[in-house]
Amino acid sequence: MHFENKVVWIIGASSGIGAALAKQLAQQKALLILTARDSDRLHSLGKELNTLTSCVVLPADIARRDTLHIIVQDTLRKYGHVDIVIHSAGIGQRSLAIHTDISVYDRLMEVNFFGPLTITQLLLPHFKERSGGHIVAVSSMSGLMGFPGRSGYVASKHALKGYFETLQVEHDIPGFHITIVSPGRINTPLPLSALTADGQPYNKMDDAQLNGIPVNTCAKKILHAVQHKKQHLIIAKKERYLYWLRLLLPAAYYRIARKAGVKERHTASM
Ligand SMILES: NC(=O)c1ccc[n+]([C@@H]2O[C@H](COP(=O)([O-])OP(=O)(O)OC[C@H]3O[C@@H](n4cnc5c(N)ncnc54)[C@H](OP(=O)(O)O)[C@@H]3O)[C@@H](O)[C@H]2O)c1
Repeated sequence: MHFENKVVWIIGASSGIGAALAKQLAQQKALLILTARDSDRLHSLGKELNTLTSCVVLPADIARRDTLHIIVQDTLRKYGHVDIVIHSAGIGQRSLAIHTDISVYDRLMEVNFFGPLTITQLLLPHFKERSGGHIVAVSSMSGLMGFPGRSGYVASKHALKGYFETLQVEHDIPGFHITIVSPGRINTPLPLSALTADGQPYNKMDDAQLNGIPVNTCAKKILHAVQHKKQHLIIAKKERYLYWLRLLLPAAYYRIARKAGVKERHTASM
């Protein structure tokens, strides 16, 4: 079992992809640290997983940047070190740029970009000292191309991918790896907490989300990529073709993406 006795810190573990990863890693006897804001959900997952492996819960809000150095110290104290960090915390968006309050962009950047960035900066000396470590950055297909109704989300995921891709090519830490994951739609409750134009949660599931790739399949592919030290992993259905279209036939990509934009404008006006 590749992950046995590896210390894995999952940030965004209370739901969706992070929770699915926690369950699969527990089966493989990884030593887990679970982080998210919802302490009750984390504790109930922790209780379930403690029957399989050692699992500690460390609730935190990664948008509170000034507290993250304490969170990182607390994490390192739990098992004395960390082998793998999974950045899965994130929030989505459902609003056209023209209607969207600037505070929504701030929030999306804080959670989806500055949180993971700050934690990574704080951990790099630890990985350097240990000559090893692995960071998994859950970006999105929205980190590779634009998508209507997601301007702030897309910007945050482009920033995330840009930062980690740069780290991949500039670090000189032996035994240290980064895997960037770009999922398309995965069947998780992400739309429920997605921010609308005034910052209120969208609170609905879209059909496209419900028909997304099963979350356990997504988690399995991520763990396979980590085990094989893959630098970039795309987990997507239709979005994969849109991405290739953008690279090879950009005019076709713009036509299709604009069509999705018309649909989004219609939804936003209802
Ligand atoms: N589902 C998809 O279709 C899809 C596609 C592409 C990329 N992704 C990315 O995958 C990652 C996981 O999303 P998901 O689909 O699993 O959605 P999810 O079920 O909503 O999970 C999001 C996780 O992030 C945590 N989180 C949100 N804000 C946080 C904060 N300020 N501090 C700490 N934790 C926070 C949530 O926990 P609390 O609410 O308890 O804090 C939850 O555990 C996200 O980065 C998302 O952008 C998802």
